[in-house]
Amino acid sequence: MQPNAQKTTATVLQVGPMPPFVEGPLHEEFNVLRLPDAEVEKFLATNSGQVGVVVTTSVTGVDAHLMRALPELRAIVNFGVGFDKIDVHTADELGVVVSNTPDVLTDCVADMAVGLLIDVARGISASDRFVRRGDWLQGSYPLGTRVSGKRVGILGLGRIGLAIAARLEAFGTTVAYHGRRRVADVTYPWHESLTDLAENSDFLIVAVASNSATAGIVSAEVLEALGPKGYLINISRGAVVDEAALVDALVQQRIAGAGLDVFAHEPYVPQELLNLDNVVLAPHTGSATAETRQDMADLFLTNLRQFVNEGTLSTPIS
Ligand code: DGY
Repeated sequence: MQPNAQKTTATVLQVGPMPPFVEGPLHEEFNVLRLPDAEVEKFLATNSGQVGVVVTTSVTGVDAHLMRALPELRAIVNFGVGFDKIDVHTADELGVVVSNTPDVLTDCVADMAVGLLIDVARGISASDRFVRRGDWLQGSYPLGTRVSGKRVGILGLGRIGLAIAARLEAFGTTVAYHGRRRVADVTYPWHESLTDLAENSDFLIVAVASNSATAGIVSAEVLEALGPKGYLINISRGAVVDEAALVDALVQQRIAGAGLDVFAHEPYVPQELLNLDNVVLAPHTGSATAETRQDMADLFLTNLRQFVNEGTLSTPIS
């Protein structure tokens, strides 16, 4: 905050924890109330009329019940690009605008997708465990799978999907994609059917946004089509994949392996996956670098300042 600057008078409701480098400026510059974990109705009975803006994260989100309980709510400012935990239909109905933090995390999330792909194909994490256990003394590590020359299928060729495609082309793979419609100005082949894309992919990468239309679309049938030599990589959301079907496919070796940064019920990971060496697990850290999280914080604060001062958002979701 600038010296002598006054806190703005708008009341901001914080829903869920924020990273420490966001909490500082947020509480210094704005009148912030925190939604308590308990006695929420009591809190709302006293404070609901003051709240004009809610701030939250992609992990916590805001449901319809809370939005409807805040009669003066005008904006939801989200830290994170994914807004699957924000009931955007209710926000729309109530005339509440929503912002997220796009673009600044695209490169890091794309790096993560490529990292998981190479890790699971070459067994980097598993061979690290092999070396640490002393197993090298008994013999060599099993052979991995070559990446170059392989077919990558991307589900969701948005900003992140395109960044993944550009990276993987440099590894000598071919790229095709599936989405609801063709993406303009790209030459990658489009598959109208996801099953068809899976059938023609060695690596199927999930990069599509999670919403009611994409819930569970990576189904048992899609995994069957990917087949025993195919790998699934997911850096989007666990909800896009039928997780029970994925676990079955991995346990029964009906697909070759998976690299997963996201799960259906985070932070819980299906127990069966913990013992599989052909699965690389990450704790939803696609955007988790110091530089990117700082960029996300800056964009989040830009949106909040701009809404409070001018009534507009720098990166509204639509
Ligand atoms: C995002 O910003 O949506 C990332 O997945 C972190 O939650």
